[in-house]
Formats: sequence, structure tokens, C-alpha cells
Amino acid sequence: MQIGKYELEKFPVILAPMDGITDKIYRKICKEMGASLTYSEFISADSIVREAKRSFDKISKNDDEHPFVVQIFGNNPIIMGEAASIVECAGADIIDLNFGCPMKKIVSKGAGAALLKNPQLMIDITKNVVNKVSIPVTVKTRLGWDESDIIIEKLVPRLQDCGIAALTLHARTRKQLFAGEADWSYFLKLKSNSSIKIPIIGNGDIDSPQKAKDAFYAYNVDGVMIGRAAIGNPWIFKNCYSFLNNDLLLPPPTIDDRLSVCKRHLDELVMLKGERIAIIEMRKFFKSYFKGIPNIKQYRLALLNSTNLNEIYDIFESISRFAINHN
Ligand SMILES: Cc1cc2nc3c(=O)[nH]c(=O)nc-3n(C[C@H](O)[C@H](O)[C@H](O)COP(=O)(O)O)c2cc1C
Repeated sequence: MQIGKYELEKFPVILAPMDGITDKIYRKICKEMGASLTYSEFISADSIVREAKRSFDKISKNDDEHPFVVQIFGNNPIIMGEAASIVECAGADIIDLNFGCPMKKIVSKGAGAALLKNPQLMIDITKNVVNKVSIPVTVKTRLGWDESDIIIEKLVPRLQDCGIAALTLHARTRKQLFAGEADWSYFLKLKSNSSIKIPIIGNGDIDSPQKAKDAFYAYNVDGVMIGRAAIGNPWIFKNCYSFLNNDLLLPPPTIDDRLSVCKRHLDELVMLKGERIAIIEMRKFFKSYFKGIPNIKQYRLALLNSTNLNEIYDIFESISRFAINHN
């Protein structure tokens, strides 16, 4: 799959942009585990233009992070264009436009999935951003606002005409939020339209190497994007790579593997954001790093309730002792 000048591997498996999850540390961990491409968390175009520090922190990339995709959201073509220029100057290799976020605080401002109700504004934003930057611009969106207003088949050719380099579809409507199942039949419709030349990345409910393989072979997508199933489970990228390229399913990570990646994640987060924020942010990961291990619940709960670093390291020690009998 090709995005502008960037050639990805044969079966690209991509880490989805996730607010509060895909900061530079977690992107690095997933990249090392085989993610073909990683995206920043979404960043408000308004706050980039206002030069808000938090937004600039989110634009910061790892030294060897190429290509680096930065996702922006907003509702104003001029501001989105300005923000895109700033992001390009800051070192982004690809800009992704968020036209799919269903959250009330975003939609109520006319951004994210709200643009599915105003496709002309979505097109105006896309055109302006493509004109303002020299790097590839991609789009991530949903099927439509609700089941009575599914616009994706008409929308993709229009976005392609604006000059975008790839499109990711989370195959749900805005109304569905994350409920029900993603409707993958739309990928077959998009991929059988011979006028659509840009790569189409499939997203929604991929949580195993088998589902990733199905996405490529049964639904013909050019790339697969994984969100929730990659939270605290960076091994999914290794496993997908192995299954897609060598037909081999890898054994699940041992408790020691999980401990060592979780500990490194915490340590790097402490260095980047300080102890207090790191502990709060790691709570989103503790549950999933140790998911599916019988009898580990007490340690997981202890991690979730813990408020200081020494206490967390003690719990890690206990898990390490627990692992001796359970690995
Ligand atoms: C915690 C969380 C944060 C997310 N933040 C973003 C975001 O910043 N930008 C975006 O385009 N999608 C965001 N999403 C949506 C995901 O990128 C993805 O489209 C969605 O989770 C469906 O994929 P999945 O079934 O593999 O999880 C977020 C999802 C989650 C669970």
C-alpha cells in the first residue's frame, strides 16, 4: 500500500489514532511490535493555531518515527489549512483529517462526525488542507450520520477528487458510536468501484490475526487499522504480521513479557509526563496488559487503585512472583 511517497508493507496493520492512548510512548511500543504505521491522538486545529502547549506536545514524534501521521480536527477550512501547515513545519509526514469522531464535545462544535451531515464543508476543508501542504493528506471517517443517511459511497470519490492519498473507514455510523458491529460489506462496495483508486484502510472490530486476514482476503482492503484491541496489547501487531505473512499464530505473551512491557511503558511515561499523570494514564492500560490471565484480578485491581509509584512497583513484584507458578 502506498500513501504518497510512503510505501508500506504488503499487509499493513496500523495502530488507530486514539485520544489518551496513542501518545509518542505507546506509538513507539506498537511500532517496535510491528505496527506498520501509527497515528497521533487527534489534535484540535484551533488549539494548534493558538499554539496551545498541550497540542504541541502531541505533535512531538519519536526520533525514528517515519512516516509520522498527525491527525487534526476542526470545522473551519481556513483554520484547518493553517493548522495543517503548522503541523507540516513541525515534522509530520502525513496529515490525517478526522471526520469521524462521534463524541458530543467534538460534534457539538461541528467537527469530527458532524461533518458527515455537511459533506460540502468536509470537502471544502479537505481541499483547503490539500492545497496548503506538500505532504500527503488522508481522511478517517464513518459510513454516515445514521442508517438513513449513509453517504460513504458518494463521499469517497469526492474526497479522492480533492487529492487525498488514502481513506480509513470505521464502518459504523455516528449514531452507532461503538455499539453493534462494524458493517464490512461497505468495503466490498468501495473496492468494487473502479473509479476509486486511493487505498482504503479497513477499521472496526479487528481483534485477532484471523480477522485481519479476513479483512484483506474477503473484503479486499489495502490496510487494516486496529484500535481497542491494541490497547495494552501491542503484541497483536507481531501476531498479525506472523499470521498474514507466514500463516503462523504466535503463542500469547507470557506474564513476564507483559510485565516487562507494562513496566517500561510506565517508566517512560513517568519520564515524559511526571509521576502523577503517568499513574492516571496507565490505569487505561493496566486492565488490558493483564487481561485474560486466570486469578490475576486482585493484582489488576490493586494497580488500578494505586496512587504512588513504589506501590505499583511492589505490585509488579507480586505479579512477578505469581508468574513463577503461572507462566
Ligand atoms: C479511547 C479511544 C480514543 C479514540 N480516539 C480517536 C481519535 O483521536 N481519532 C480518531 O480518528 N479515532 C479515535 N478513536 C476511534 C478509533 O480510532 C477506531 O476508529 C475505533 O476504535 C474503531 O476501531 P476498533 O474497533 O479497532 O477499536 C478512538 C477510540 C478509542 C477507543
